[in-house]
Amino acid sequence: MEILERIKEEAINNNIPIMKDDGLAFLLSFLKEHEEIRDILEIGTAIGYSAINFALVRWDMKIDTIEIDPSLVEVAENNIVKLVLEDRIQCFNMDAMQYITNKEYDFVFIDAAKSQYRKYLEHFYNNSHIGTYFIFDNLYFHGIVDNPELSHNRSTLQMTRKIKKFREELINDQRFSTELYKDIGDGIAISKRII
Ligand SMILES: C[S@@+](CC[C@H](N)C(=O)[O-])C[C@H]1O[C@@H](n2cnc3c(N)ncnc32)[C@H](O)[C@@H]1O
Repeated sequence: MEILERIKEEAINNNIPIMKDDGLAFLLSFLKEHEEIRDILEIGTAIGYSAINFALVRWDMKIDTIEIDPSLVEVAENNIVKLVLEDRIQCFNMDAMQYITNKEYDFVFIDAAKSQYRKYLEHFYNNSHIGTYFIFDNLYFHGIVDNPELSHNRSTLQMTRKIKKFREELINDQRFSTELYKDIGDGIAISKRII
């Protein structure tokens, strides 16, 4: 769809990080296969590219998406209106940790600050049910997580150490059944809540 291509171009031209094509295609086919998924929560809207793509999978899905940067929320909201999806995608302009609701979601896509994954998971665990899928991207971070010699940047190394710790904890977390997809996106995990 032409509008989607333009949104993607807009993100690339403005250095706004959005999901990679293969990671997005993977999640879209996951959503198509799992018809029970109706309510989606996304942490990290940017300009609405992934949220819009999710909403276009099926008319019966609703998406709440949280973004801390007000200038991005403005662009996202305009993009959502362009696709006439404002009834199904709602943007919340706030720090994700301030988002409190008693709603339960079927699919929680965590795509904001990578060093905060643990905090987000615990915060939004309260908004899940048995069967909810939690999705995390960037768990391999350009290979640096497992090969720290690939980077000499201190803050990158600090962040990738945190990602590694989080990844190991997630795999061993008895509340979830976790599948890791190392070669998709930048390393995606899908964790299904089982207790
Ligand atoms: C990778 S981008 C999201 C890309 C988007 N999901 C897509 O693929 O189209 C991450 C976004 O998370 C936002 N973010 C970072 N920390 C946040 C926080 N604490 N609460 C809400 N949003 C946050 C950033 O401003 C950024 O726009």
